[in-house]
Amino acid sequence: MSRFIIRGGKTLAGTIAVRGAKNHAIKIFPACLLFSKPIVVKNVPGIEDVLRTHELLRDLGFLVEDQGERTYRIVPPARVAASSLRRDIAERIRASILFVGPLLVRQGRAEFPFPGGCVIGRRPIDLFLDGWRSMGIEVRESGGIFRLKATRVRGADYTFRIVSHTATESLLMTAVLAEGTTILRNAALDPEIAALADFLNASGASITGAGTPTIRIEGMSGTLLKGGTCTVIPDRLETGSFAILASILGKKIRITDCNPQHVEVLLQHLRTAGVSIRQGMDWIEIKRPLRLTAVGVRTREYPGFATDHQAPFVVLLTQATGQAMVFETVFEGRLSYLEELNRMGACITQCDLHRTIVNGPTRLRGRAMESPDLRTGIAFVIAALVAKGTSSIGNIYQIDRGYEQLDERLRALGADIKRE
Ligand code: EPU
Repeated sequence: MSRFIIRGGKTLAGTIAVRGAKNHAIKIFPACLLFSKPIVVKNVPGIEDVLRTHELLRDLGFLVEDQGERTYRIVPPARVAASSLRRDIAERIRASILFVGPLLVRQGRAEFPFPGGCVIGRRPIDLFLDGWRSMGIEVRESGGIFRLKATRVRGADYTFRIVSHTATESLLMTAVLAEGTTILRNAALDPEIAALADFLNASGASITGAGTPTIRIEGMSGTLLKGGTCTVIPDRLETGSFAILASILGKKIRITDCNPQHVEVLLQHLRTAGVSIRQGMDWIEIKRPLRLTAVGVRTREYPGFATDHQAPFVVLLTQATGQAMVFETVFEGRLSYLEELNRMGACITQCDLHRTIVNGPTRLRGRAMESPDLRTGIAFVIAALVAKGTSSIGNIYQIDRGYEQLDERLRALGADIKRE
Protein backbone atom coordinates (compact mmCIF):
# COMPACT_ATOMS: atom_id res chain seq x y z
CA MET A 1 0.00 0.00 0.00
CA SER A 2 1.56 3.31 -1.06
CA ARG A 3 1.71 6.40 1.13
CA PHE A 4 2.34 10.08 0.51
CA ILE A 5 5.36 11.43 2.36
CA ILE A 6 5.05 15.18 2.67
CA ARG A 7 7.47 17.73 4.08
CA GLY A 8 5.45 20.81 4.86
CA GLY A 9 6.05 24.51 5.15
CA LYS A 10 7.00 25.31 1.56
CA THR A 11 5.46 28.18 -0.37
CA LEU A 12 3.88 27.06 -3.65
CA ALA A 13 3.76 28.84 -7.01
CA GLY A 14 3.00 28.11 -10.65
CA THR A 15 0.18 26.73 -12.75
CA ILE A 16 -2.01 23.69 -12.19
CA ALA A 17 -4.55 22.42 -14.73
CA VAL A 18 -7.86 20.96 -13.56
CA ARG A 19 -8.86 17.55 -14.95
CA GLY A 20 -12.28 16.38 -16.07
CA ALA A 21 -14.88 16.00 -13.32
CA LYS A 22 -15.02 12.65 -11.55
CA ASN A 23 -18.69 13.18 -10.78
CA HIS A 24 -19.48 13.81 -14.45
CA ALA A 25 -17.27 11.07 -15.97
CA ILE A 26 -18.56 8.32 -13.70
CA LYS A 27 -22.15 9.09 -14.82
CA ILE A 28 -21.32 9.11 -18.56
CA PHE A 29 -20.09 5.50 -18.47
CA PRO A 30 -23.31 4.04 -16.99
CA ALA A 31 -25.26 6.20 -19.46
CA CYS A 32 -23.57 4.19 -22.24
CA LEU A 33 -26.09 1.44 -21.42
CA LEU A 34 -28.73 3.64 -23.10
CA PHE A 35 -26.90 3.48 -26.46
CA SER A 36 -26.79 1.04 -29.37
CA LYS A 37 -23.81 2.66 -31.16
CA PRO A 38 -20.32 3.72 -29.99
CA ILE A 39 -19.79 6.68 -27.70
CA VAL A 40 -16.59 8.74 -27.52
CA VAL A 41 -15.81 10.35 -24.16
CA LYS A 42 -13.11 13.05 -23.97
CA ASN A 43 -11.31 14.75 -21.09
CA VAL A 44 -11.69 11.67 -18.87
CA PRO A 45 -9.65 12.00 -15.65
CA GLY A 46 -7.12 9.24 -14.94
CA ILE A 47 -8.58 8.23 -11.57
CA GLU A 48 -9.45 4.97 -9.86
CA ASP A 49 -13.24 5.54 -9.80
CA VAL A 50 -13.28 5.86 -13.61
CA LEU A 51 -11.38 2.57 -13.93
CA ARG A 52 -13.98 0.90 -11.70
CA THR A 53 -16.85 2.11 -13.94
CA HIS A 54 -14.93 0.69 -16.93
CA GLU A 55 -14.71 -2.65 -15.17
CA LEU A 56 -18.47 -2.61 -14.57
CA LEU A 57 -19.11 -1.78 -18.26
CA ARG A 58 -16.75 -4.52 -19.51
CA ASP A 59 -18.48 -7.02 -17.27
CA LEU A 60 -21.76 -6.14 -19.03
CA GLY A 61 -20.20 -6.87 -22.45
CA PHE A 62 -19.10 -3.34 -23.49
CA LEU A 63 -15.76 -2.72 -25.19
CA VAL A 64 -13.82 0.06 -23.49
CA GLU A 65 -11.06 1.34 -25.80
CA ASP A 66 -8.43 3.70 -24.42
CA GLN A 67 -7.63 5.99 -27.35
CA GLY A 68 -5.01 8.00 -25.46
CA GLU A 69 -5.11 11.70 -24.54
CA ARG A 70 -7.86 11.10 -21.97
CA THR A 71 -10.25 9.81 -24.63
CA TYR A 72 -12.21 6.56 -24.48
CA ARG A 73 -14.42 4.90 -27.08
CA ILE A 74 -17.17 2.70 -25.70
CA VAL A 75 -18.69 0.09 -27.99
CA PRO A 76 -22.04 -1.33 -26.82
CA PRO A 77 -22.68 -5.05 -27.33
CA ALA A 78 -25.65 -6.25 -29.42
CA ARG A 79 -26.93 -7.81 -26.18
CA VAL A 80 -25.99 -6.72 -22.68
CA ALA A 81 -24.20 -9.67 -21.07
CA ALA A 82 -25.73 -9.63 -17.57
CA SER A 83 -28.43 -8.07 -15.47
CA SER A 84 -26.44 -7.93 -12.25
CA LEU A 85 -23.57 -5.67 -11.29
CA ARG A 86 -20.20 -7.14 -10.29
CA ARG A 87 -20.55 -7.20 -6.55
CA ASP A 88 -16.93 -6.52 -5.52
CA ILE A 89 -16.85 -3.29 -7.58
CA ALA A 90 -20.42 -2.16 -6.93
CA GLU A 91 -19.71 -2.39 -3.21
CA ARG A 92 -16.69 -0.11 -3.65
CA ILE A 93 -18.13 2.92 -5.43
CA ARG A 94 -21.34 4.83 -4.80
CA ALA A 95 -21.71 5.59 -8.51
CA SER A 96 -22.34 1.89 -9.20
CA ILE A 97 -25.99 2.65 -8.45
CA LEU A 98 -26.05 4.83 -11.59
CA PHE A 99 -25.81 1.63 -13.67
CA VAL A 100 -28.99 0.20 -12.17
CA GLY A 101 -31.70 2.31 -13.89
CA PRO A 102 -30.21 2.01 -17.40
CA LEU A 103 -29.52 -1.72 -16.84
CA LEU A 104 -33.11 -2.28 -15.79
CA VAL A 105 -34.61 -0.53 -18.83
CA ARG A 106 -32.28 -2.56 -21.08
CA GLN A 107 -32.77 -5.95 -19.41
CA GLY A 108 -36.15 -5.78 -17.69
CA ARG A 109 -34.38 -6.58 -14.44
CA ALA A 110 -31.33 -5.54 -12.45
CA GLU A 111 -29.55 -6.87 -9.38
CA PHE A 112 -27.10 -4.96 -7.24
CA PRO A 113 -25.65 -4.83 -3.72
CA PHE A 114 -25.89 -1.76 -1.48
CA PRO A 115 -23.45 0.67 -3.15
CA GLY A 116 -20.16 1.55 -1.42
CA GLY A 117 -18.12 4.75 -1.66
CA CYS A 118 -16.88 7.33 0.81
CA VAL A 119 -17.88 6.68 4.41
CA ILE A 120 -19.32 10.11 5.11
CA GLY A 121 -22.66 9.24 6.70
CA ARG A 122 -25.48 6.75 6.30
CA ARG A 123 -25.97 7.42 2.58
CA PRO A 124 -29.28 5.55 2.19
CA ILE A 125 -30.77 4.74 -1.24
CA ASP A 126 -34.45 5.16 -0.35
CA LEU A 127 -34.95 8.00 -2.85
CA PHE A 128 -33.74 5.84 -5.73
CA LEU A 129 -35.99 2.95 -4.65
CA ASP A 130 -39.05 5.23 -4.17
CA GLY A 131 -38.47 6.85 -7.55
CA TRP A 132 -38.15 3.51 -9.33
CA ARG A 133 -41.31 2.23 -7.64
CA SER A 134 -43.16 5.34 -8.88
CA MET A 135 -42.17 4.27 -12.42
CA GLY A 136 -43.85 0.88 -11.98
CA ILE A 137 -40.67 -1.01 -11.14
CA GLU A 138 -40.85 -3.83 -8.60
CA VAL A 139 -38.14 -3.53 -5.94
CA ARG A 140 -37.17 -6.39 -3.60
CA GLU A 141 -34.28 -6.86 -1.22
CA SER A 142 -32.93 -9.97 0.44
CA GLY A 143 -29.55 -10.80 1.90
CA GLY A 144 -28.20 -7.37 1.02
CA ILE A 145 -29.00 -7.75 -2.70
CA PHE A 146 -31.59 -5.52 -4.36
CA ARG A 147 -33.61 -6.99 -7.22
CA LEU A 148 -35.54 -4.76 -9.61
CA LYS A 149 -37.98 -6.05 -12.19
CA ALA A 150 -40.28 -4.42 -14.74
CA THR A 151 -41.74 -5.50 -18.05
CA ARG A 152 -42.67 -1.88 -18.76
CA VAL A 153 -41.12 1.21 -17.21
CA ARG A 154 -43.61 4.10 -17.16
CA GLY A 155 -42.89 7.79 -16.90
CA ALA A 156 -43.90 9.31 -13.55
CA ASP A 157 -44.36 12.63 -11.81
CA TYR A 158 -41.95 12.29 -8.90
CA THR A 159 -41.01 14.75 -6.16
CA PHE A 160 -37.75 14.18 -4.27
CA ARG A 161 -38.24 14.44 -0.52
CA ILE A 162 -34.58 15.47 -0.19
CA VAL A 163 -32.45 17.07 -2.90
CA SER A 164 -30.08 14.36 -4.12
CA HIS A 165 -27.43 14.64 -6.80
CA THR A 166 -27.10 11.00 -7.88
CA ALA A 167 -30.75 10.08 -7.27
CA THR A 168 -31.69 12.88 -9.72
CA GLU A 169 -29.23 11.50 -12.30
CA SER A 170 -30.38 7.97 -11.71
CA LEU A 171 -34.09 8.64 -12.28
CA LEU A 172 -33.26 10.90 -15.22
CA MET A 173 -31.36 8.08 -16.93
CA THR A 174 -34.07 5.53 -16.11
CA ALA A 175 -36.69 7.85 -17.62
CA VAL A 176 -34.87 8.32 -20.95
CA LEU A 177 -35.93 4.90 -22.26
CA ALA A 178 -39.23 4.70 -20.32
CA GLU A 179 -42.72 4.99 -21.83
CA GLY A 180 -44.27 8.45 -21.54
CA THR A 181 -43.23 11.61 -19.76
CA THR A 182 -41.35 11.82 -16.46
CA ILE A 183 -41.27 14.97 -14.37
CA LEU A 184 -38.70 15.16 -11.57
CA ARG A 185 -39.42 17.84 -8.98
CA ASN A 186 -37.11 19.22 -6.29
CA ALA A 187 -34.27 17.90 -8.46
CA ALA A 188 -30.63 18.67 -7.65
CA LEU A 189 -29.02 21.55 -9.54
CA ASP A 190 -25.43 20.31 -9.84
CA PRO A 191 -23.70 21.22 -13.14
CA GLU A 192 -22.84 17.54 -13.73
CA ILE A 193 -26.59 16.83 -14.09
CA ALA A 194 -27.07 19.49 -16.77
CA ALA A 195 -23.92 18.21 -18.50
CA LEU A 196 -25.28 14.66 -18.48
CA ALA A 197 -28.59 15.85 -19.93
CA ASP A 198 -26.78 17.90 -22.62
CA PHE A 199 -24.90 14.79 -23.72
CA LEU A 200 -28.05 12.63 -23.81
CA ASN A 201 -29.98 15.35 -25.68
CA ALA A 202 -27.19 15.71 -28.25
CA SER A 203 -27.53 11.93 -28.78
CA GLY A 204 -31.31 12.04 -29.36
CA ALA A 205 -32.92 12.16 -25.89
CA SER A 206 -35.50 14.79 -24.97
CA ILE A 207 -34.75 16.31 -21.57
CA THR A 208 -35.61 19.87 -20.55
CA GLY A 209 -34.96 21.73 -17.31
CA ALA A 210 -31.81 19.89 -16.16
CA GLY A 211 -29.97 22.29 -13.86
CA THR A 212 -33.31 23.61 -12.53
CA PRO A 213 -35.53 22.04 -9.81
CA THR A 214 -37.98 20.65 -12.38
CA ILE A 215 -36.74 18.28 -15.07
CA ARG A 216 -38.97 16.88 -17.80
CA ILE A 217 -37.99 13.79 -19.77
CA GLU A 218 -39.92 12.49 -22.78
CA GLY A 219 -39.32 8.73 -22.69
CA MET A 220 -38.21 6.90 -25.83
CA SER A 221 -40.14 3.67 -25.08
CA GLY A 222 -37.06 1.47 -25.29
CA THR A 223 -35.56 2.96 -28.47
CA LEU A 224 -31.84 3.13 -27.78
CA LEU A 225 -29.78 6.27 -28.38
CA LYS A 226 -27.64 6.08 -31.49
CA GLY A 227 -24.16 7.09 -30.34
CA GLY A 228 -22.44 10.34 -29.61
CA THR A 229 -19.51 12.28 -28.22
CA CYS A 230 -19.16 13.81 -24.80
CA THR A 231 -16.50 16.04 -23.25
CA VAL A 232 -16.28 15.78 -19.48
CA ILE A 233 -16.67 19.19 -17.78
CA PRO A 234 -13.91 20.54 -15.48
CA ASP A 235 -13.90 19.13 -11.95
CA ARG A 236 -15.28 21.86 -9.68
CA LEU A 237 -14.36 19.89 -6.55
CA GLU A 238 -10.73 19.62 -7.67
CA THR A 239 -10.82 23.33 -8.65
CA GLY A 240 -12.02 24.23 -5.16
CA SER A 241 -9.46 21.99 -3.44
CA PHE A 242 -6.65 23.71 -5.35
CA ALA A 243 -8.15 27.16 -4.65
CA ILE A 244 -8.13 26.44 -0.90
CA LEU A 245 -4.56 25.11 -1.03
CA ALA A 246 -3.45 28.20 -2.98
CA SER A 247 -5.18 30.50 -0.47
CA ILE A 248 -3.02 29.12 2.33
CA LEU A 249 0.30 28.48 0.58
CA GLY A 250 0.21 30.12 -2.82
CA LYS A 251 2.68 32.88 -3.56
CA LYS A 252 0.82 33.03 -6.85
CA ILE A 253 -1.01 30.01 -8.24
CA ARG A 254 -2.91 29.94 -11.50
CA ILE A 255 -5.59 27.25 -11.76
CA THR A 256 -6.43 26.62 -15.42
CA ASP A 257 -8.92 24.51 -17.44
CA CYS A 258 -11.62 25.15 -14.86
CA ASN A 259 -15.03 26.83 -14.68
CA PRO A 260 -14.81 29.52 -11.96
CA GLN A 261 -18.60 29.97 -12.02
CA HIS A 262 -19.00 26.47 -10.57
CA VAL A 263 -17.03 27.44 -7.44
CA GLU A 264 -18.25 31.02 -7.08
CA VAL A 265 -19.63 30.55 -3.55
CA LEU A 266 -16.31 29.11 -2.37
CA LEU A 267 -14.42 31.99 -4.02
CA GLN A 268 -16.66 34.47 -2.16
CA HIS A 269 -15.77 32.79 1.14
CA LEU A 270 -12.06 32.91 0.26
CA ARG A 271 -12.31 36.61 -0.66
CA THR A 272 -14.04 37.27 2.68
CA ALA A 273 -11.12 35.50 4.37
CA GLY A 274 -8.81 38.04 2.72
CA VAL A 275 -7.53 36.05 -0.27
CA SER A 276 -6.67 37.93 -3.45
CA ILE A 277 -8.40 36.30 -6.42
CA ARG A 278 -8.48 37.12 -10.13
CA GLN A 279 -10.49 35.06 -12.54
CA GLY A 280 -11.29 34.70 -16.22
CA MET A 281 -13.54 32.41 -18.23
CA ASP A 282 -11.53 29.28 -17.46
CA TRP A 283 -8.85 30.26 -14.97
CA ILE A 284 -8.42 31.52 -11.42
CA GLU A 285 -5.32 33.20 -10.02
CA ILE A 286 -4.82 33.15 -6.27
CA LYS A 287 -2.37 34.87 -3.94
CA ARG A 288 -2.44 34.05 -0.25
CA PRO A 289 -2.87 37.08 2.01
CA LEU A 290 -0.44 38.11 4.74
CA ARG A 291 -3.15 37.16 7.20
CA LEU A 292 -6.21 34.96 6.66
CA THR A 293 -9.35 35.97 8.58
CA ALA A 294 -11.76 33.36 9.97
CA VAL A 295 -15.06 33.07 8.10
CA GLY A 296 -17.93 30.75 9.00
CA VAL A 297 -19.38 28.31 6.51
CA ARG A 298 -22.55 26.32 6.07
CA THR A 299 -22.54 23.55 3.46
CA ARG A 300 -25.50 23.23 1.11
CA GLU A 301 -26.57 21.59 -2.10
CA TYR A 302 -25.29 23.23 -5.30
CA PRO A 303 -24.97 26.16 -5.88
CA GLY A 304 -24.26 26.53 -2.15
CA PHE A 305 -20.95 25.84 -0.43
CA ALA A 306 -20.09 22.24 -1.45
CA THR A 307 -19.89 19.67 1.33
CA ASP A 308 -16.85 18.31 -0.53
CA HIS A 309 -14.96 21.55 0.20
CA GLN A 310 -15.77 21.50 3.90
CA ALA A 311 -12.75 19.49 5.16
CA PRO A 312 -10.14 21.41 3.10
CA PHE A 313 -11.79 24.67 4.24
CA VAL A 314 -11.47 23.61 7.90
CA VAL A 315 -7.72 23.24 7.29
CA LEU A 316 -7.72 26.82 5.96
CA LEU A 317 -9.56 27.96 9.09
CA THR A 318 -6.81 26.46 11.29
CA GLN A 319 -4.51 29.05 9.65
CA ALA A 320 -6.97 31.97 9.86
CA THR A 321 -7.17 34.51 12.66
CA GLY A 322 -10.32 34.25 14.77
CA GLN A 323 -13.08 31.77 15.49
CA ALA A 324 -15.46 30.32 12.91
CA MET A 325 -18.37 27.90 12.97
CA VAL A 326 -18.54 25.19 10.31
CA PHE A 327 -22.01 23.73 9.80
CA GLU A 328 -22.10 20.56 7.69
CA THR A 329 -25.76 20.23 6.70
CA VAL A 330 -25.57 17.63 3.90
CA PHE A 331 -23.97 14.54 5.48
CA GLU A 332 -23.90 13.51 9.13
CA GLY A 333 -20.51 11.72 9.00
CA ARG A 334 -18.32 14.34 7.43
CA LEU A 335 -16.66 15.75 10.53
CA SER A 336 -15.06 12.56 11.79
CA TYR A 337 -11.54 13.69 10.82
CA LEU A 338 -11.35 16.68 13.22
CA GLU A 339 -9.47 14.85 15.98
CA GLU A 340 -6.69 14.06 13.51
CA LEU A 341 -6.24 17.79 12.82
CA ASN A 342 -6.23 18.47 16.58
CA ARG A 343 -3.45 15.90 16.95
CA MET A 344 -1.52 17.99 14.39
CA GLY A 345 -1.95 21.03 16.66
CA ALA A 346 -5.28 22.49 15.49
CA CYS A 347 -7.77 23.90 17.98
CA ILE A 348 -11.15 22.56 16.88
CA THR A 349 -14.14 21.81 19.09
CA GLN A 350 -16.89 19.61 17.71
CA CYS A 351 -20.35 20.69 18.94
CA ASP A 352 -22.42 17.83 17.48
CA LEU A 353 -22.54 15.60 14.40
CA HIS A 354 -23.00 18.61 12.13
CA ARG A 355 -21.33 21.61 13.77
CA THR A 356 -17.82 22.49 14.82
CA ILE A 357 -15.85 25.55 15.93
CA VAL A 358 -12.37 26.21 14.62
CA ASN A 359 -10.00 28.60 16.42
CA GLY A 360 -6.97 29.97 14.65
CA PRO A 361 -4.31 30.51 13.75
CA THR A 362 -2.54 27.39 14.98
CA ARG A 363 0.80 25.80 14.09
CA LEU A 364 0.33 22.36 12.62
CA ARG A 365 2.94 19.62 13.08
CA GLY A 366 3.53 16.74 10.67
CA ARG A 367 2.15 13.30 11.63
CA ALA A 368 1.39 9.84 10.30
CA MET A 369 -2.25 9.63 9.19
CA GLU A 370 -4.57 7.43 7.18
CA SER A 371 -6.92 8.86 4.58
CA PRO A 372 -10.45 7.73 5.49
CA ASP A 373 -12.12 9.08 2.34
CA LEU A 374 -11.44 11.16 -0.74
CA ARG A 375 -12.14 14.71 0.45
CA THR A 376 -10.69 14.16 3.92
CA GLY A 377 -7.68 12.74 2.10
CA ILE A 378 -7.11 15.97 0.17
CA ALA A 379 -7.67 17.95 3.40
CA PHE A 380 -4.92 15.89 5.09
CA VAL A 381 -2.61 16.52 2.13
CA ILE A 382 -3.22 20.28 2.45
CA ALA A 383 -2.72 20.12 6.23
CA ALA A 384 0.54 18.20 5.73
CA LEU A 385 1.76 20.78 3.20
CA VAL A 386 1.04 23.52 5.75
CA ALA A 387 2.52 21.67 8.74
CA LYS A 388 6.04 21.90 10.10
CA GLY A 389 7.95 18.66 9.66
CA THR A 390 7.15 15.44 7.84
CA SER A 391 3.76 13.75 7.49
CA SER A 392 2.94 10.39 6.02
CA ILE A 393 -0.54 9.73 4.66
CA GLY A 394 -1.67 6.16 4.10
CA ASN A 395 -4.64 4.60 2.30
CA ILE A 396 -4.05 6.96 -0.62
CA TYR A 397 -6.17 4.76 -2.87
CA GLN A 398 -8.93 6.98 -1.48
CA ILE A 399 -7.18 10.07 -2.88
CA ASP A 400 -6.34 8.37 -6.20
CA ARG A 401 -10.07 7.64 -6.53
CA GLY A 402 -10.68 11.28 -7.39
CA TYR A 403 -7.40 13.16 -7.98
CA GLU A 404 -5.20 12.20 -10.94
CA GLN A 405 -1.48 11.94 -10.07
CA LEU A 406 -1.87 14.46 -7.29
CA ASP A 407 1.72 14.08 -6.07
CA GLU A 408 3.22 14.82 -9.49
CA ARG A 409 0.99 17.84 -10.06
CA LEU A 410 1.69 19.32 -6.63
CA ARG A 411 5.44 18.78 -7.07
CA ALA A 412 5.21 21.00 -10.17
CA LEU A 413 4.02 23.78 -7.82
CA GLY A 414 7.05 23.25 -5.60
CA ALA A 415 5.51 20.91 -3.01
CA ASP A 416 7.73 18.35 -1.29
CA ILE A 417 5.54 15.27 -1.72
CA LYS A 418 6.47 11.80 -2.83
CA ARG A 419 4.72 8.47 -3.19
CA GLU A 420 6.40 5.56 -1.39
N1 EPU B 1 -30.00 10.86 0.64
C1 EPU B 1 -31.02 10.14 1.20
N2 EPU B 1 -31.56 9.12 0.46
C2 EPU B 1 -31.11 8.79 -0.78
C3 EPU B 1 -30.06 9.54 -1.35
C4 EPU B 1 -29.51 10.58 -0.62
O1 EPU B 1 -31.45 10.41 2.32
O2 EPU B 1 -31.64 7.85 -1.38
C5 EPU B 1 -29.40 11.97 1.41
C6 EPU B 1 -27.93 11.76 1.74
O3 EPU B 1 -27.74 10.90 2.86
C7 EPU B 1 -27.47 13.17 1.99
C8 EPU B 1 -28.32 13.98 1.02
O4 EPU B 1 -29.39 13.13 0.61
O5 EPU B 1 -27.75 13.54 3.31
C9 EPU B 1 -27.64 14.49 -0.21
O6 EPU B 1 -26.82 13.49 -0.78
P1 EPU B 1 -26.72 13.25 -2.34
O7 EPU B 1 -27.59 12.10 -2.69
O8 EPU B 1 -26.91 14.52 -3.07
O9 EPU B 1 -25.21 12.78 -2.49
P2 EPU B 1 -24.70 11.73 -3.52
O10 EPU B 1 -25.46 11.88 -4.77
O11 EPU B 1 -24.61 10.39 -2.88
C10 EPU B 1 -22.93 13.22 -4.72
C11 EPU B 1 -21.46 13.14 -5.00
C12 EPU B 1 -20.72 13.39 -3.69
C13 EPU B 1 -21.10 14.76 -3.15
C14 EPU B 1 -22.63 14.82 -2.97
C15 EPU B 1 -23.12 16.18 -2.54
C16 EPU B 1 -21.29 11.55 -6.78
C17 EPU B 1 -20.90 10.17 -7.19
N3 EPU B 1 -21.14 11.82 -5.49
O12 EPU B 1 -23.22 12.22 -3.76
O13 EPU B 1 -19.35 13.40 -4.02
O14 EPU B 1 -20.50 14.94 -1.90
O15 EPU B 1 -23.30 14.49 -4.23
O16 EPU B 1 -22.89 17.11 -3.53
O17 EPU B 1 -21.70 12.36 -7.59
C18 EPU B 1 -17.07 12.99 -3.72
O18 EPU B 1 -16.90 13.28 -4.93
O19 EPU B 1 -16.10 12.84 -2.93
C19 EPU B 1 -18.42 12.82 -3.20
C20 EPU B 1 -18.67 12.19 -2.06
